[in-house]
Amino acid sequence: MAEQHETGTPLPNGVALTALDETYREDIHQVLDRLREEAPVHEDTELGRLILTRHDDVRGLLRNREWGVDPRKSSADSYVRLITGTNTPEGMDNYQPSMLFLDDPDHKRLRALVSQAFNPRAIEAMRRRTEEITQALLEEIDGREEVDLIADFAGPLPTLVIAEMLGVALEDRNHFKRWSDDLNFSFDPIRDEETNARIEASGEAMRSYFDKTIAARRAEPKDDLISDLVRAQEAEDSLNDEEIMSMCTLLLIAGNVTTTDLIGNGLYALLTHPDQMEKLKANPSLIENAVEEMLRFDSPVTDSARLPFNDEVIHGCPVKKGYTTYTSLAAANHDPSVYPDPHKFDIEREDTHHQSFGGGIHMCLGAPLARLEAQIGINAFLARFPNVRLSESPGKRRHLPSFRGFETLPVRL
Ligand code: HEM
Repeated sequence: MAEQHETGTPLPNGVALTALDETYREDIHQVLDRLREEAPVHEDTELGRLILTRHDDVRGLLRNREWGVDPRKSSADSYVRLITGTNTPEGMDNYQPSMLFLDDPDHKRLRALVSQAFNPRAIEAMRRRTEEITQALLEEIDGREEVDLIADFAGPLPTLVIAEMLGVALEDRNHFKRWSDDLNFSFDPIRDEETNARIEASGEAMRSYFDKTIAARRAEPKDDLISDLVRAQEAEDSLNDEEIMSMCTLLLIAGNVTTTDLIGNGLYALLTHPDQMEKLKANPSLIENAVEEMLRFDSPVTDSARLPFNDEVIHGCPVKKGYTTYTSLAAANHDPSVYPDPHKFDIEREDTHHQSFGGGIHMCLGAPLARLEAQIGINAFLARFPNVRLSESPGKRRHLPSFRGFETLPVRL
């Protein structure tokens, strides 16, 4: 099925094309550059998917309305069925997709209900609270010699911001971080039984929390997103409780590890490129362009899936209806035919457009919020700790397919 121009060594397959593999984790572009050059439509026969790596192919497929995302329309043995647990009849019966895995008209209806909360004006209104939350986190670590950038700063910041938007009580916020960290592992196509049990337990705890909160907001609405969703439900009668719950869960999961990784990868890029670090410290107004370059250079989400509604052909390769086709956002962002010197980290790069937030109707809803948090978080961190440097003990990258970031990143302040 796939177009391949092999040059001796076989092309990577299966786990070697995920963050579970050490080479892919430590040097992702070594792997992706090869695919882009030798097999721009590469078939991962072990995990059941095609992978596109060229910028124009990725950009085009994400926006192509002949392709969708609902795993229930996919072939039983394909990658999206594995990650959504719909590869068994029981998993299929219990499946409650969020809008990330729904096609229109359901996708359109659900997205419209939350879009208001994420429009640029609404996000700008979160600026002051994001600054306060950032300063409170920095205050807590001030005075310490060494901290873990992830556990102590980049991890809690997005959880606290989204918890605030949703209206999650202060005392429940640590649970939320844990639940959402556990649920992320549903993106691992070969997770073991123990991980499945953890995902299940955290999913159950989160559902029961939202169940109670939805009832409480129905009785007594507040100024938060859960109350807005309950109001929308009452006004239009077009949203059921399961859908409110899936939406809240999606917002938590989609907004947490991704933004943590943008801040973590971004600060790591600065720490390993001292000339760029000095430039930003000397001129903090470069932060907007710098964050776009961070998104391009070390993309927090490495790939996103699409499934054709009908049999298709890409570059002469037939793709069966419903077969999982991954767009490698990380590869598209380093395509040398689009970006001069693509592996160079340059916060003043002129063209920093990227595919890191996906595209088309599923384009990341939280992009303005992620940008705001990263811009505020990174500049505030550098203003408070201008002498920050990597610790002697190295950071560890996370073993989570489709995401790219650090599990721990020790730094000296
Ligand atoms: C740097 C941080 C982030 C990155 C890199 C990121 C990336 C992505 C990507 C790649 C997609 C899939 C797009 C597609 O397939 O076309 C997506 C979807 C989504 N993201 Fe984000 N995201 C980030 C932060 C956030 C935040 C902070 C939120 C909200 C709190 C959020 C909410 C969503 C939602 C709701 C979707 C599903 C949209 C839909 O299906 O219509 N994301 N994101």
